[in-house]
Amino acid sequence: MRAVVIDELGGTDRLRLTQLARPVPVSAELLVQIHAAALNPIDAKTRAGKGAAAGIRSFPLTLGNDFSGVVAQAAYEAHPLQPGAEVYGMLSVPRTNGSYAEFAAVPEMSIARKPSNLSHIEAAAVPLAALTADGALRVAGVTAGSRVLIHAGAGGVGHFAVQFAALAGAEVITTASPRNADWLRELGASEVIDYGSTRFEDVVSGVDIVIDLIGNVHDNTGSRSLGVLRADGILVNVPTGSWPSLAEDAAAAGRRATGFKVSPDGRRLAEFTDLIEAGKLRVHIDAVFPLDRVAEAHALLEQGHTRGKISLDITR
Ligand SMILES: NC(=O)c1ccc[n+]([C@@H]2O[C@H](COP(=O)([O-])OP(=O)(O)OC[C@H]3O[C@@H](n4cnc5c(N)ncnc54)[C@H](OP(=O)(O)O)[C@@H]3O)[C@@H](O)[C@H]2O)c1
Repeated sequence: MRAVVIDELGGTDRLRLTQLARPVPVSAELLVQIHAAALNPIDAKTRAGKGAAAGIRSFPLTLGNDFSGVVAQAAYEAHPLQPGAEVYGMLSVPRTNGSYAEFAAVPEMSIARKPSNLSHIEAAAVPLAALTADGALRVAGVTAGSRVLIHAGAGGVGHFAVQFAALAGAEVITTASPRNADWLRELGASEVIDYGSTRFEDVVSGVDIVIDLIGNVHDNTGSRSLGVLRADGILVNVPTGSWPSLAEDAAAAGRRATGFKVSPDGRRLAEFTDLIEAGKLRVHIDAVFPLDRVAEAHALLEQGHTRGKISLDITR
């Protein structure tokens, strides 16, 4: 099968198109023929030696957690997802090889039926980012009437977080650049703060939940967010490597804060399928690249201004 691998850590030039043996499913795994994969920042971080790189046991490694495709081999005879079924899901790179490839062996608990109203390109962009957005809001205890500040609402995780918070009945405030403001209001934000011209702490206070998708890599966004929380509010920091002093800073500010880490979850993904088919949850694709142009896709991702998601067309 065609696959993109890295043989060592480094820049985008390390991404190499090659031929690999098809994976052989074991235990309750399905073999999926992948039609599309999606990029996440962890792919580029891991390629560069950060992210999940500490877990790499051997090279060559295929990156990519997200995929959408068709079942080529079922886990067992009576499994609901039989050959030909359209599915989407999330892998756990580098524990397994990833989705920048024509096939993957996928644990059945990491997979769900693909939304029928999405293309593979769109569906591949959902799992990791939507599970992260939903999981972070759940950890924070979002409920109807919660006042929620979401940093980087226009990104992959952010655009799902805005929608999930709005679906929960929360009041959604988000930071973004002005070109994304109207779109984010359409997705459910009631207020969009231009982080380039406005210090969010000058215009927001009394927040129940901060979903922090930036951390302290840009202008101490994480630390500054502690000051806008109510006394019993909570900050959920998602780029967990970006703010090593999170616990100490939160204790000093007298506010609750936690990191969050996503896991594959096919059952929750099946609920997303229902929401998407009901028109209640949308995914936005910013750019699509064929597999052999994955280096360009990584370079675009690393600019940090993706609107929604970047997908890879594995069929081309
Ligand atoms: N812990 C976990 O399990 C987990 C899971 C998923 C993601 N993550 C991490 O969470 C972070 C977000 O992931 P993602 O997929 O959403 O990233 P992404 O799609 O690459 O985010 C891009 C967005 O960030 C916005 N942005 C950039 N700088 C900003 C700033 N200073 N303030 C507000 N918005 C800003 C950009 O908006 P503009 O174009 O408007 O500037 C762009 O829309 C990444 O660090 C990722 O590694 C962690």
